[in-house]
Amino acid sequence: MEVFSLDVLTEKFYGEERDFLENHYPGISLSRIKSELSHYSTETEYTAFFNQLRKGKPLEYIRSRAYFYKSEFYVDGNVLIPRSETEILVEQASLFAKKMNRQIDEKFKFIDIGTGSGAIALSLVQELDFPVSGVATDISSGALEVAKKNNFFLRFKYSKESNLEFKVADRLEGIKEKFHLVLSNPPYIKESDDRHKVHHQVEKYEPHLALYLKDEEYDSWFNKLFKQAQDALFEGGMFYMEGHEDHLEYQKNILEKFDFKDVQVVKDYTGRDRFLKGIKTCKN
Ligand SMILES: C[S@@+](CC[C@H](N)C(=O)[O-])C[C@H]1O[C@@H](n2cnc3c(N)ncnc32)[C@H](O)[C@@H]1O
Repeated sequence: MEVFSLDVLTEKFYGEERDFLENHYPGISLSRIKSELSHYSTETEYTAFFNQLRKGKPLEYIRSRAYFYKSEFYVDGNVLIPRSETEILVEQASLFAKKMNRQIDEKFKFIDIGTGSGAIALSLVQELDFPVSGVATDISSGALEVAKKNNFFLRFKYSKESNLEFKVADRLEGIKEKFHLVLSNPPYIKESDDRHKVHHQVEKYEPHLALYLKDEEYDSWFNKLFKQAQDALFEGGMFYMEGHEDHLEYQKNILEKFDFKDVQVVKDYTGRDRFLKGIKTCKN
């Protein structure tokens, strides 16, 4: 009788599928596959894992886990896999929050629009060693369920005196509170014009609601977001969003027409335009 050996099976799979794997999972190694497999224990699970890899499904969705900033997040098809470049937004937000907190008497308040897995809001609240009040919104109730689940698992990693609320909302619609910080990593790919740049695995597996906006609604969608952010911020508060490298310079000009100063496009670590930020001012 043939003895089952996971190592032999994995090496055989890796040898046969090497080109496909290198194409679909840049940088993936045999040892990474072996380490992913260590989370499973039956032959049926191993086979299911290999079959999903053969289809090109992102590893994060196969394992329902993604690493972002300093934590592990549950992810499923309702949410975008959080990207490493978005960690810059958390770093910048945390620096701003620490500075602002020294200048105010009340509790620091922030909102994360389009929270998805909750990666931004939950990473920020963990980074701050003073009590804060945060709101995380998403138009997708499926995404919010994922964010709430992550909050349940990560709630011990932030101050008991901090609180996070999760709300279904279209951008800031219906949110009456004011904030010191408005954050967002919204959908920012034009459904038609920008689509050719989207990797086929992203297109196939990630929620389109998290990725795309209709070309003809793109500018008005952001105009509304900028207006809502302006109205929701206290004076001196910051708006910080992630965006598309091809559109941020144009959007900078639009944001400057609202009550914002020090409006800047910020690059990511690959040198690409990635973020837009501004400080709320009273222009009159
Ligand atoms: C690019 S994903 C970002 C997810 C998460 N914040 C992250 O950085 O990993 C955009 C998110 O915005 C949500 N979204 C799309 N349209 C929205 C809207 N009009 N209002 C609020 N959220 C929206 C999507 O459901 C998705 O979760």
